[in-house]
Amino acid sequence: MLRIRDLHASIDGKEILTGLDLDLPAGEVHAVMGPNGAGKSTLSNVLAGRDGYEVRGTATLDGTDLLALEAEDRATAGLFLAFQYPMELPGVGNAYFLRTSLNAIRRAHGLDEVSATDFLSVAREHLTALDMDPAFLSRSVNEGFSGGEKKRNEILQMSMLQPRLAILDETDSGLDIDALRIVARGIERLRGPDRSMLVITHYPRLLELVRPDRIHVLDGGRIVRSGGPELANELEADGYVGVTDRIPA
Ligand SMILES: Nc1ncnc2c1ncn2[C@@H]1O[C@H](COP(=O)(O)OP(=O)(O)OP(=O)(O)O)[C@@H](O)[C@H]1O
Ligand SMILES: [Mg+2]
Repeated sequence: MLRIRDLHASIDGKEILTGLDLDLPAGEVHAVMGPNGAGKSTLSNVLAGRDGYEVRGTATLDGTDLLALEAEDRATAGLFLAFQYPMELPGVGNAYFLRTSLNAIRRAHGLDEVSATDFLSVAREHLTALDMDPAFLSRSVNEGFSGGEKKRNEILQMSMLQPRLAILDETDSGLDIDALRIVARGIERLRGPDRSMLVITHYPRLLELVRPDRIHVLDGGRIVRSGGPELANELEADGYVGVTDRIPA
């Protein structure tokens, strides 16, 4: 489903991704861990089509060459990225933003647009499941949201858009204990045979709640170790220096 081969990405002449290979089969949830500055967000951005990177290598989603598509076409192809630092969009209503995103994807697939009323009733169901106040819908996207509220809003977007591939970049960072459970539940609810998820995290706690099928360690711009869920315990015990050939700083 997601297949990445020899992916390189540079910004301002500095190479950040240095030949990254990754396979994420349909229906699986994989975690990506790795030290600060390893290139995890760069990988997310490059896959989502953020401008400014010089990219080579291949990344395909169900055989479609993602790197050849504009960012909005990648979303239509089923890719969703929950940002490490969600953007604030003052003046843009959250409900409007979500419905516009949803309808752009539906139109591209030849489906009818969802009316404002139908949208609101579906959105309310998702809000209840995520234990979010419906007032979030009428506020501007992320404006004045606390750190944890922004992260929950990313999960709300993901739940509504039902992507084929979801990349969650540290969606668990900065969450209180209850919010972490809610986010984990949001991930679990979306787990399914037709959907894959790449969960970037620094914390084994999330991985206890969301048992990933595989864990990858990204270091120096490429995947240096992959293993089953037990790799999280090994990392916790030995740190990145212990499980990779990383030289201690
Ligand atoms: N626009 C940029 N200009 C210059 N350097 C950049 C830019 N974006 C990223 N980098 C550098 O690339 C490296 C990888 O950054 P990236 O954000 O991908 O790391 P990360 O693995 O997500 O780290 P963290 O765990 O702290 O989120 C860092 O050294 C960062 O400073
Ligand atoms: Mg990051």
